[in-house]
Amino acid sequence: MVPTLPPPPMSGHLAWWQTGVIYQIYPRSFGDTTGNGIGDLQGIIDHLDYLNGEADQSLGVDAIWISPFYPSPMADFGYDVADYCDIEPLFGDLATLDRLIAEAHAREIRVVVDYVPNHSSDQHPWFIESRSTLDNPKRNWYIWSDGRTDGSPPNNCGSPFVGPAWTLDPPTGQFYLHQFLPEQPELNWREPGLAAAMLDVLRFWLDRGVDGFRMDVVGMIIKDAGLGDNPPNPNADPTLHADDIFGRQLHVFNEDQDDVHEVIRMFRSVLDEYSDRVAIGELGYGMSRWVRYYGTDGDGLHLPFNFRLMHTTWEAGAIRRSVEKLEATLPSWAWPSYVLGSHDAPRLASRIGAAQARVAAMLLLTLRGTPTLYQGDELGIENGVILPDQLQDPQGLRLGMDRSRDPSRTPMQWDAGPHAGFSTTESWLPLSADHRIRNVATQAEDPTSMLTLYRCLLEYRRSTQTLTVGQYESVPNSRDDDCFTFRRRHQDSERLIALNLTGKEQRLSMPDDRQASIELSTHLDRLGSMTLHNFTLRPDEGLIIEVE
Ligand code: NOJ
Repeated sequence: MVPTLPPPPMSGHLAWWQTGVIYQIYPRSFGDTTGNGIGDLQGIIDHLDYLNGEADQSLGVDAIWISPFYPSPMADFGYDVADYCDIEPLFGDLATLDRLIAEAHAREIRVVVDYVPNHSSDQHPWFIESRSTLDNPKRNWYIWSDGRTDGSPPNNCGSPFVGPAWTLDPPTGQFYLHQFLPEQPELNWREPGLAAAMLDVLRFWLDRGVDGFRMDVVGMIIKDAGLGDNPPNPNADPTLHADDIFGRQLHVFNEDQDDVHEVIRMFRSVLDEYSDRVAIGELGYGMSRWVRYYGTDGDGLHLPFNFRLMHTTWEAGAIRRSVEKLEATLPSWAWPSYVLGSHDAPRLASRIGAAQARVAAMLLLTLRGTPTLYQGDELGIENGVILPDQLQDPQGLRLGMDRSRDPSRTPMQWDAGPHAGFSTTESWLPLSADHRIRNVATQAEDPTSMLTLYRCLLEYRRSTQTLTVGQYESVPNSRDDDCFTFRRRHQDSERLIALNLTGKEQRLSMPDDRQASIELSTHLDRLGSMTLHNFTLRPDEGLIIEVE
């Protein structure tokens, strides 16, 4: 069924974060310039030309989002921040970051940084003070509570990293809340002093010139004031680890509380003190709850991340329904976003296969909305093989190999050299086995490689306003179960995107007699005129078609 078209996108000027493409950098794994096997900020600077520069091999992205680079004991690889306003020495220093921002801006690359508002490190001076005595002025900057009369934690909340979300702190006899590791105590956003200090953190980075923030687990920052018990999830996966309390609950009281939107409005008003900055949020709820994070009339996040296609069965009908639901739900002023990979999820190429990863690239870069692509997905990097004694991820260490996020965090593969051009020494996680054949240098020379496909798609998208601002419309076809076809339209210009979600050839017909021509195939080997009432998509092929 074709849904009614949503109202046209915002007229007039569109912001960079609406027309641009964001590229996620996991700094530990991007480029190591100090020879310690761990990536650093200079390693990002050294590869900016690859991201958007003069070089022929340049990818052509508009913004980078860098995962945390703040001082950290690295219990959760930087998502445990010990100082919100400095740089982890492993990664560099403030002067290096200033250079990174300047060098990125010189190449028209915006810089989005991670903001971790739900929890700090237990080594943050605020927490050290907070835990020192019951009457410390910063006691309420974190969430402390007495246990129940039987000595058990204040409520039944669990951590996605295993076990209860509370730890008893014997010196004061109270429990503190940590929805992730015990080393990641939760900040108390109901405490005005903490809120003011954390808003100043935003200003600190905005003043240094960052273009926005990706806000970590932003839907979790406010919990039920009464600390109610979560009900069990009747649909929980029965194979979950015995201590995965979090996985067995419905998260009624620990996240997505109505008053979280007041805090998000505060974030927005700080960003609005500056021009052209973006607020991106990491969150994933059902559509009707998720859409509220855009705020009322747009006073919330600019871009709540939309991870749905990462969890949707990879088949034409499911993908179409997901896109149509989003298009039908968003208010006219709200801008869509799409994400297909991240440092938390299995590699796209391993999830759907190398051939379909090319179709996914075309899908991501032709849908209406801002795409975020994860480093290495442009090479089709697959999940790395991590042996038990190489495991690093705290989630994998606690919940088992199959929950480890290490496989998607292996170092970037720059060339066929001994350490893949990532480092001069062994890297903190092993390189993916395929680094000698799947790397930037090799793929840049190959006219049909995955990297060449990404570069062509990015260039085509950048030069085709219809793809950045045009309306979206599903188009029925004769093979709707196997192929997803949709139209992007802007003024008199129209593109049809036809994606074969199967490994078999598909013959399609559409009741459309207009002149059409192939502008780009995922196989990068055909162009030219075609007919819409009868055409063939080869196995795993996607086409961008211009319709006259
Ligand atoms: C989401 C981040 O993406 C993930 O890597 C981290 O472990 C948790 N939030 C906790 O900060």
